[in-house]
Amino acid sequence: MRISVFRRAHFNAAHRLHNKNWSDEKNREIFGLCNSPNYHGHNYDLEVKMTGEVDPETGYLFDLGTLSKIIKEKVENKFDHKNLNLDLDEFKEKNPTTEYLCHLIWTILRAELDEKYDLTIKLWETPRNYVEYPAS
Ligand code: NI
Repeated sequence: MRISVFRRAHFNAAHRLHNKNWSDEKNREIFGLCNSPNYHGHNYDLEVKMTGEVDPETGYLFDLGTLSKIIKEKVENKFDHKNLNLDLDEFKEKNPTTEYLCHLIWTILRAELDEKYDLTIKLWETPRNYVEYPAS
């Protein structure tokens, strides 16, 4: 039986979107409030979806307590209360957009989970704006 399980998580982080090859004016025009020079925070909501076959011995697809610990250790501890631009090497040269952050979280969790499971990450930057990787 093929099925999906979901685990939600949350973290807060600061960022600034800025392209150093553009003028300040163009940066303000394209990135709006997310270009604010002194950074600003977002309350990120994360949804981790795992899909695969139920283990007939446990009746589980995957133990959600274990998944919750992996998310806490590898994602929340890495990103929560951080300045994404200044604290994370991954965003030294790359804008910490929700797109790139979602892809980074997928890469981190993908390395922790057996490849027999499909993995999809949704990341909300605001209650109304979110991204999904891989694309559906
Ligand atoms: Ni922003």
